Amino acid sequence: MAQRVTYSTILPLLVTANWLVLSGVPSANGASAVGDPGMRRDGLRVAFEAWNFCNEVGQEAPDMGSPRAADCFDLSNLYAVEKELYLGSLCEISDTPKPWQFWMVMLKNGNYDTNSGLCPENGKKVPPFKPGRFPCFGSGCMNQPILYHQPTALDGNGIMRGGFNGSYDLNSSTGGSTSYFEVVWEKKVGSGGWVFAHKLRTSRKYPWLMLYLRADATKGYSGGYHYDTRGILKTLPESPNFKVRLSLDIKQGGGPKSQFYLIDIGSCWKNNGARCDGDVLTDVTRYSEMIVNPETPAWCSSTNIGNCPPYHITPNNTKILRNDTAHFPYGAYHYYCAPGNAQHLEKPYSTCDPYSNPQAQELLQLLPHPIWREYGYPTKQGDGWIGNGRTWELDVGGLSSRLYFYQDPGSPPARRIWTSIDVGTEVFVSDQDQVAEWTLSDFDVILT
Ligand SMILES: *[C@@H]1O[C@H](CO)[C@@H](O)[C@H](O)[C@H]1NC(C)=O
Ligand SMILES: *[C@@H]1O[C@H](CO)[C@@H](O)[C@H](O)[C@H]1NC(C)=O
Ligand SMILES: *[C@@H]1O[C@H](CO)[C@@H](O)[C@H](O)[C@H]1NC(C)=O
Ligand SMILES: *[C@@H]1O[C@H](CO)[C@@H](O)[C@H](O)[C@H]1NC(C)=O
Repeated sequence: MAQRVTYSTILPLLVTANWLVLSGVPSANGASAVGDPGMRRDGLRVAFEAWNFCNEVGQEAPDMGSPRAADCFDLSNLYAVEKELYLGSLCEISDTPKPWQFWMVMLKNGNYDTNSGLCPENGKKVPPFKPGRFPCFGSGCMNQPILYHQPTALDGNGIMRGGFNGSYDLNSSTGGSTSYFEVVWEKKVGSGGWVFAHKLRTSRKYPWLMLYLRADATKGYSGGYHYDTRGILKTLPESPNFKVRLSLDIKQGGGPKSQFYLIDIGSCWKNNGARCDGDVLTDVTRYSEMIVNPETPAWCSSTNIGNCPPYHITPNNTKILRNDTAHFPYGAYHYYCAPGNAQHLEKPYSTCDPYSNPQAQELLQLLPHPIWREYGYPTKQGDGWIGNGRTWELDVGGLSSRLYFYQDPGSPPARRIWTSIDVGTEVFVSDQDQVAEWTLSDFDVILT
């Protein structure tokens, strides 16, 4: 594991179009929770972070370091935290109620070298174990990517454009397919908003890749982290009082395994309802995401209720148990998995992958279904998918206030405060090289 990183490897990550700083356009329906409502501010703030399987560092790429990363080793872990805080200090914009830093592009490689012992299990250090459960082509499969940065520049037609791109395949000249990622942002000076065009390609060696654009908390623990982070959510949205507006146009889907998240929300609370404090043994990352790829089946069904949440709550607050086969909306749920450290789970249950986050996680994955109509979410297969590019106004707050999340019996309900809101895809171990391509714009989080 290379731990040699210099600050010069991070400086090119900054995008500061600070020759032009116009004020943001206020949102029509209420105060915005993000620093740049609707992505309309000419002075763009965006950062990049590359991750490995458990949101830590695997192996740094030669002359590249970790574009922004953490490590299972305490020393460089501290260093990665410092990098993000340092970037934040350079990009920070003064604002009320809080200064903010940047949109975050998150790239993640799902390879896990189980012989390395690099990832904890539900937050607990565990020894290496036999390969087989996770993709890995051998030693070095958890490498960091090569990253190129095209700094934002203004052309002769008043268009500002910049981007990040690169690959996890470090030895691409050796032939065969290579993984690829690209985010290019573009905006006309003084009008409209930034359009972020994304591309993600998997390869034989990197079959499980994720690329998201995230609105993260400006401090504290964003979804999936266990240390201080930086972001653009100057007010943290709390269920049920917020909506998310965004425009999404998916051009290529990324194949049958592409779990395209029209929206993914992440937070953290302990099983006893207390807020997270960075103790990875008891903190639990909670995610809920709507998957719009119509090829994604519902693993939750009347015959597999262990893949469903224990109950569903309707918009009029009627609770429907998952064994109520006449009423439970099985088709609305792809998969529910419980935190691996929960002590009082109702059987049958499925627990979440214990290795892919620094702490235990809980996942509630939704599918388009008529039951979500009330919240403005996709109601049928194909909504939001290729050929159905559109602007969404999602009542994420209302919906997330009625989702099931595990807590110990009798514990006071956790406040559902969301520290990460993101859009993008997770191509989940594809047996073929796949390409996903989409644009995201108008992103706003509106407090209601
Ligand atoms: C990244 O983009 C630049 C500029 O468009 C291009 O020259 C380069 O080939 C791209 N990098 C990769 C790895 O394809
Ligand atoms: C890339 O090639 C170099 C030199 O041949 C080798 O040391 C390294 O392990 C390779 N890296 C990966 C990730 O395949
Ligand atoms: C609540 O909604 C369900 C359908 O979602 C409906 O069957 C039921 O009658 C409603 N109950 C009340 C009290 O409105
Ligand atoms: C349904 O599940 C609940 C527990 O959530 C249980 O009390 C009830 O007996 C079950 N009903 C049937 C018909 O199995």
